Amino acid sequence: MRLLVLGGTRWLGREVVSAALTAGDEVVCLARGTAATVPEGARLVVADRTAGTSAYDGLDGRFDAVIDLATHPGHVRGAVAALADRCERYLYVSSGSVYADTSRAGATVDAETLPPLAADTMGSLEEYGSAKVACEQAVLATFGAGRSLVARAGLIGGPGDASGRTTYWPWRFAHPASADGTVLVPDVPGLMTQVVDARDLATWLVESARLGRTGTVNATGDTVPLEEHLRTAREVAGHDGPLAAVPPAWLEEREVQPWAGPRSLPLWLPLPEYAGFGDRDASGARGLGLVPRPLAETLADGLAWQESVGAPAGAGLTDEEERSFLAELP
Ligand SMILES: NC(=O)c1ccc[n+]([C@@H]2O[C@H](COP(=O)([O-])OP(=O)(O)OC[C@H]3O[C@@H](n4cnc5c(N)ncnc54)[C@H](OP(=O)(O)O)[C@@H]3O)[C@@H](O)[C@H]2O)c1
Repeated sequence: MRLLVLGGTRWLGREVVSAALTAGDEVVCLARGTAATVPEGARLVVADRTAGTSAYDGLDGRFDAVIDLATHPGHVRGAVAALADRCERYLYVSSGSVYADTSRAGATVDAETLPPLAADTMGSLEEYGSAKVACEQAVLATFGAGRSLVARAGLIGGPGDASGRTTYWPWRFAHPASADGTVLVPDVPGLMTQVVDARDLATWLVESARLGRTGTVNATGDTVPLEEHLRTAREVAGHDGPLAAVPPAWLEEREVQPWAGPRSLPLWLPLPEYAGFGDRDASGARGLGLVPRPLAETLADGLAWQESVGAPAGAGLTDEEERSFLAELP
């Protein structure tokens, strides 16, 4: 297969390129190459997609498929216009953030989405979901449902997760901040998580490009209660110290953030508002062959990667924060 990857210089994009090269495909990437380049064996065409349709002038020949990782609607609008007659199929990596309602568990792809962003450029992260909706619509308007796959990815995890959302817990259990090994965890019964390993998502996208799979699906991992996710993280880290489980109200009083970022407990989300965020219906993706590896493998490999680069930067609690919160508990 001759594959065009719009992106390919960062995390998921590099995994996609590697998966395609492993399968023996010819891979051309288009990106600015600002932070990094593409894996060896792929060709990078340097271009800035803010230029519109002319950004694709440096590409030669036809492609069997394009896999697009963009978020700014203008990037996708330009690409579909420039590539409609040169690419057979368009695979777009969208997000579960497109949905209007984060509270409904088990929602299917038919659930209502946010209004599409009219602007070509996403101004801030608050517009992320709407920007992804606009990108999806641009793909479908030009390539149609018969020539496109829209993969609404759930939380992506594993080695390379610079956000620390899927590596903080195994890392924290491997490196408790307290002398007796106690780890502070959120007590949120009923909250679900859905982590899709970047490597599984990448392999599946490439396979889907080859097989001409079409449709709109929630490309998520298995649905796992947060308690079980934390138990798995403990197991892979070999943690057998005590747990200090605290309710959301206790964390909110101390301005500990949910989900991600500094001074947070990653993966914790407020209920009932976010009951559906990690509990989407993934039957469409399973039907199209997305097979997630066991969560333990994603967390173990993520931990090994985190050990190789050092403590998660800007994710979770620092050792000092963890110790000071634990000191408040009886
Ligand atoms: N992380 C998650 O949990 C999660 C969840 C759901 C969905 N997603 C989606 O998964 C994908 C992640 O992709 P990723 O890890 O490869 O990182 P990314 O940062 O989202 O990828 C963006 C790619 O586009 C290129 N790019 C950005 N601006 C450009 C421009 N003006 N012109 C040309 N190229 C440009 C970047 O390369 P250069 O900077 O070199 O140009 C990069 O290769 C995204 O679509 C994201 O929305 C992520």
